[in-house]
Amino acid sequence: MSFTVAIDGPAAAGKGTISKAVAAHFGFAHLDTGLLYRAVGAKVLAGAEPIAAARALDPVDLESDDLRTPAVAQAASEVAVNAGVRAELIEFQRKFSMRPEGAVLDGRDIGTVICPDADVKLFVTASAECRAERRFKELNGKGHDVPYEQVLADVKARDARDSGRATAPLIAAYDAVTIDTSDMTIDAAVSAAIGAVERAKNAIG
Ligand code: CDP
Repeated sequence: MSFTVAIDGPAAAGKGTISKAVAAHFGFAHLDTGLLYRAVGAKVLAGAEPIAAARALDPVDLESDDLRTPAVAQAASEVAVNAGVRAELIEFQRKFSMRPEGAVLDGRDIGTVICPDADVKLFVTASAECRAERRFKELNGKGHDVPYEQVLADVKARDARDSGRATAPLIAAYDAVTIDTSDMTIDAAVSAAIGAVERAKNAIG
């Protein structure tokens, strides 16, 4: 029997770290659905047509090292507005959510659109300033020399685009457990997430 964990939230809120930790703790498979949009964004930057790029997406495309750059992040949030692109990516995500060992999917619309019947839904968030600070450290740690003000502006631009789009906007599912990580250590946030999943598992029995 499958067990699906949906984790949504804005850029750099801690979804990635929490999702990986939850998946490792319970032995579930993990899909970072942002990589799907990043891979399509990267293909579009290279000249491809967005819907055709989404249709032709291969799991191998998700392994590219170049998907974490700020330019690809912006391209991803631009293609993510496209309803045709989103439609092309639904089946892959739903299939993944049925993995027999259990699955964690993280993104923006997992609990609302992709897996509305997920066994547990988490909405991981933090203030824009906290998120920009974290992303700033991450990017500079990887040698991307981007000023903090630029990172904050990018975070806010993506928030506005992700929340304001007509198709699958970023919004907490009504039945999601919200974890605000602004004033939490990553260990505390991971513990809160694991606790919520544990409770949902116990409730099912
Ligand atoms: O890691 P970060 O949170 O910065 O970004 P991401 O999760 O890799 O997602 C990159 C972009 O893809 C986001 O800004 C969203 O616009 C889009 N996305 C989406 O629309 N739906 C998803 N399920 C996942 C990502």
